[in-house]
Amino acid sequence: MLKTHNCGELRTSHIGQRVTLAGWVNRRRDHGGLVFIDLRDRSGIVQVVTNPDAASEAHVAAQQARNEYVLQVKGVVQARPEGLANPDIPTGEIEVVAYELKILNPAKTPPFYIYDDRPVDEALRLKYRYLDLRRQRMQRNLILRHRVVKYIRDFLDARDFVEIETPILFKSTPEGARDYLVPSRLHPGKFYALPQSPQQLKQLLMVAGYEKYFQIARCFRDEDQRGDRQPEFTQLDIEMSFVEREDVMALIEELMIGIVENCSDRQLLFKPFPRLTYPEAMRRFGTDRPDMRFGMELRDVSDLVAECDFGIFSKTVATGGQVKGLRVPGCGTYSRRQIDELAELVQREGAKGLAWLALGHEGEVRSSFAKFLTEDEVAGIVERMEAEPGDLSLFVADRPPVVNEALSALRLELGERLGLRDRTVLAFCWVIDFPLFEWDEEGQRWDPSHHLFTAPMPEDVPLLETDPGAARGQQYDLVCNGEEVAGGSIRIHQREVQEKIFGLIGLDVEEAQERFGHMLEAFEYGTPPHGGIAPGIDRLVMLLAGEPNIREVIAFPKTQQAADLMAGAPSTVDPKQLEELHIRIVDK
Ligand code: AMO
Ligand code: AMP
Repeated sequence: MLKTHNCGELRTSHIGQRVTLAGWVNRRRDHGGLVFIDLRDRSGIVQVVTNPDAASEAHVAAQQARNEYVLQVKGVVQARPEGLANPDIPTGEIEVVAYELKILNPAKTPPFYIYDDRPVDEALRLKYRYLDLRRQRMQRNLILRHRVVKYIRDFLDARDFVEIETPILFKSTPEGARDYLVPSRLHPGKFYALPQSPQQLKQLLMVAGYEKYFQIARCFRDEDQRGDRQPEFTQLDIEMSFVEREDVMALIEELMIGIVENCSDRQLLFKPFPRLTYPEAMRRFGTDRPDMRFGMELRDVSDLVAECDFGIFSKTVATGGQVKGLRVPGCGTYSRRQIDELAELVQREGAKGLAWLALGHEGEVRSSFAKFLTEDEVAGIVERMEAEPGDLSLFVADRPPVVNEALSALRLELGERLGLRDRTVLAFCWVIDFPLFEWDEEGQRWDPSHHLFTAPMPEDVPLLETDPGAARGQQYDLVCNGEEVAGGSIRIHQREVQEKIFGLIGLDVEEAQERFGHMLEAFEYGTPPHGGIAPGIDRLVMLLAGEPNIREVIAFPKTQQAADLMAGAPSTVDPKQLEELHIRIVDK
């Protein structure tokens, strides 16, 4: 080894020892007489000193060193002189007095500072990701990620799970996003699809009798990117046989609590995790991934305004829409301009406008619509909203999906502004009893709201014949701080039910056979009842690290345009490669 110790491990107990260190120059200070170098490796930073009188060669080398040079230092650990200890770093009480200092490799001046975490343009960070990853924040995140994955493996191993790898070159999987396709050289005109998840394969592993499977699985989805989405991401993929919904949920809840308590210093707001049915989540928060760190729940006032003289409200209710509102504590003094800004926000989410009612400190009403209402109607609304003097209440009238979308976005924005979304707190909750299907207007057919292997609630099976939209699925989503952290379900294990679902979503027998024939056939060879779930590792680690997006916890992420700026991917390829793949590029 080129080193005997790590920089960050040295303490007063090492005083007097000779050590050999190797690492990068974090910073260098030349004080004429002495040169101080903060030497950095993964473990941390230690101060190295060279003295021209004691070790002149080492001193000359130290004078030549610049930021990010790679050095090897031989020296003796000493206590720092009286009053010069640095309480901000763990090695702050000692320094290493060098008797030999070798430049192992010089470095160009980096395009941004490595030694502090001041903001840097993200495109630049991604282009020089290997330098960005040297920074403390990124090292902390990747090491946290490692610890989380290690905890998961140990936890599941102790509970008899088997880790099994499944192929990346496979066939289209049904998670509802666009596939990434890989052309086949040996089969002209044919393509592999990269898995959107190992869904089919893990179910086949249950048919194969493995009973408890997991995999830290890479998944690929060609969909529009957002802060919490990447084209390739990592799931903890789990499948279990002979289980019911409760069994899977209990396992994951124990695992999540274990991860948070053992790998992070975040506070769990709820233990056990609360459960909301899908209708309840939509009613109270307007979304199936509620941020439960704060209240500000939505209230339905449709019944109170159905007959009122404010046409926007009464007409909406009369035509089957609804009016819901949320109360913002202490914001009753918002100016018209501030409220207009919020109106713009809900309009971006599809609402037509934002109605408002502010209660002054004496209880006096300022409002965009109260003048059209009777006193009793206004009092009824104030009561329903539980508005106190000084509060602002905001309302949207529209079809329920629009109302919910607009108000849930508004709720998050106001929660952020009021400082209610504390990153050190984790508020997990389960959302259950999802509808099995969503109606697809465009395609005029039912779409599975999770995926097409999710089993209906046993008591809702007859509804598949009579009222598919009312059938609930045995699905469960784990949500934390407004992010969907995991999704899973109990699966269909009988061929007839599976075929019924294919029919409802408009897959004819031939198509189903072509896409899922291998599954249908497998299901005829003794399929155990089974179910599973898949937590997104990137999102989970993002929450544990308190980071605002998943790129911060992925070593080499892609941009919003699904590009790798460092290597320059995607890129053009050699025409010969295309020819071998039987591909011709056609200009659009
Ligand atoms: P689902 O599609 O809900 O379920 O995905 C499971 C979890 O994976 C994470 N996730 C993502 N993370 C980053 N970028 C993305 N583009 C992305 N897409 C999803 C989320 C999500 O909750 N096969 C089923 C699981 C099952 O039924 O067992 C599945 O993939 O955290
Ligand atoms: P308008 O008649 O469109 O000028 O709207 C009058 C006021 O009502 C404005 O303050 C709008 O923001 C608000 N408003 C309009 N449509 C809605 C709606 N669907 N829900 C809530 N408020 C609305």
